[in-house]
Amino acid sequence: MHDIIRQLEEKRQQARLGGGQRRIDTQHGKGKLTARERIEMLLDPESFEEWDMFVEHRCAEFGMADQVTPGDGVVTGFGTINGRLIFVFSQDFTVFGGSLSASHAEKICKIMDQAMKVGAPVIGLNDSGGARIQEGVDSLAGYAEVFQRNAMASGVVPQISMIMGPCAGGAVYSPAMTDFIFMVEDTSYMFVTGPDVVKTVTHEEVTAEDLGGASTHTTKSGVADKAFTNDVEALLYLRRFIDFLPSSNREKPPVRPTPDLANRTEMSLDTLVPDNANKPYDMKELIHKVVDEEDFFEVQPTYAGNIIIGFGRMEGSTIGIVANQPMVLAGCLDINSSIKAARFVRFCDCFNIPIVTFVDVPGFMPGTAQEYGGIIKHGAKLLYAYAEATVPKVTVITRKAYGGAYDVMSSKHLRGDVNFAWPTAEIAVMGPKGAVEIIFRQDIGDAKKIEARTEEYRTRFANPFVAGNRGFIDDVIMPHNTRKRICRSLRMLENKELENPWKKHGNMPL
Ligand code: HXC
Repeated sequence: MHDIIRQLEEKRQQARLGGGQRRIDTQHGKGKLTARERIEMLLDPESFEEWDMFVEHRCAEFGMADQVTPGDGVVTGFGTINGRLIFVFSQDFTVFGGSLSASHAEKICKIMDQAMKVGAPVIGLNDSGGARIQEGVDSLAGYAEVFQRNAMASGVVPQISMIMGPCAGGAVYSPAMTDFIFMVEDTSYMFVTGPDVVKTVTHEEVTAEDLGGASTHTTKSGVADKAFTNDVEALLYLRRFIDFLPSSNREKPPVRPTPDLANRTEMSLDTLVPDNANKPYDMKELIHKVVDEEDFFEVQPTYAGNIIIGFGRMEGSTIGIVANQPMVLAGCLDINSSIKAARFVRFCDCFNIPIVTFVDVPGFMPGTAQEYGGIIKHGAKLLYAYAEATVPKVTVITRKAYGGAYDVMSSKHLRGDVNFAWPTAEIAVMGPKGAVEIIFRQDIGDAKKIEARTEEYRTRFANPFVAGNRGFIDDVIMPHNTRKRICRSLRMLENKELENPWKKHGNMPL
């Protein structure tokens, strides 16, 4: 008995040391925490229950039989964040570069399976050199087992990836199938093929950072949802982020009591929209002034800035916010913004999070770049996502809602539950100038006539009353009452029930 206990302690000690002090020092030297330090920082103190600390790899090739570390390069288990159950795996770069062996993959699969059974989120802290080269196809099989589970868990429990080191090759496809990808600046990168292969195949010279660093994926590719400056900041934000999400699709989002009153008015909103319809204003000001305690967690803040997405709370309950941003490209919908918002709408719908949409959209972005890039198909993603969503949907049109973009942005016709307009709303097929130049083409040479026609059109259509007259707008509200009206609407919608017709799954435009 004594012997076993001593062996147990030795094994634990060995597992805790991972690849050894020298490699831990190297990890720290890069400004990175170790796999275990990360878990400690992420979870509530003393809450971590580790599983499979004694799992070892089974590879005997290339002298591997002599190189065995208990745990095999990934720390797995469960714990709590602010008291709520979370499953986590954290890859240990000090053990074979965090590379994925068959055993390593089995450990990840085990916690994913358990998370789905009990209904709790899975957080992956990725720091890995990819497939364990010595294991060959066993490693590839391990990846595919994880991928399969990523697909099955999608829409059942939230899956979040934090990239905290290398993530390359086919390994990127596991994070890519999770709901959110966060990255750490300077120390993490993701790419399908690294700089050397790129150079051989396309003759481009590019650094790992430029090819797949945090700034690339949060500004150019849109693959990552947000970047953090270091491990500590990343993990603390992750704790804050997870607080917004329900544990599974069987639950409603958590409620966090707030001193912020539901009927708080914001008089400054009455002057937010400028008199000149072509002048921009910051939609984020509206968002901050409406949500509880100005607490808005923006997702993809540096990508496709013409649309804003993120989480806030109303009367303590999580809401997803989608808003056009007039400050960027006048708030037009284009390929990137449509994809960005569509995926977010679908996430909210999967996890019972009501969607509040703020609309100021002059239409879809014109041009060959957009058409050749497939704006038809990509714009349809957002349309499809809103049309399919059955969660409570509250919409506020602050200014422009033109053309197809009016329909797309959670309109009444896509089963918007409550659709408000501010008095400054302009709901029409297109803006007055464009409209007049088409329907009064014969008068184009006559500036006076055109001006008169434009004014006539503006008076007739550039207001919320035509849509209000049809019942497409439930009410025209004063901007200062926006928070109050949304809160009341969400409360009314608390027990909303709506189901789509049975199908295996739809065929959304991918
Ligand atoms: C086994 C690996 C490994 C791997 C790193 N190591 N990657 N062992 N399999 N994939 C080991 C190294 O031998 C080294 O061991 C230790 O981890 C640290 O690696 P270093 O190279 O010293 O670290 P660094 O200089 O920081 O470079 C990190 C790296 C580099 C850029 C990740 O290690 C690298 O390029 N690794 C190979 C990446 C790769 O090609 N992976 C396969 C991709 S294909 P010691 O004992 O010296 O500490 C793939 C397919 C997945 O993943 C398909 C799924 C569908």
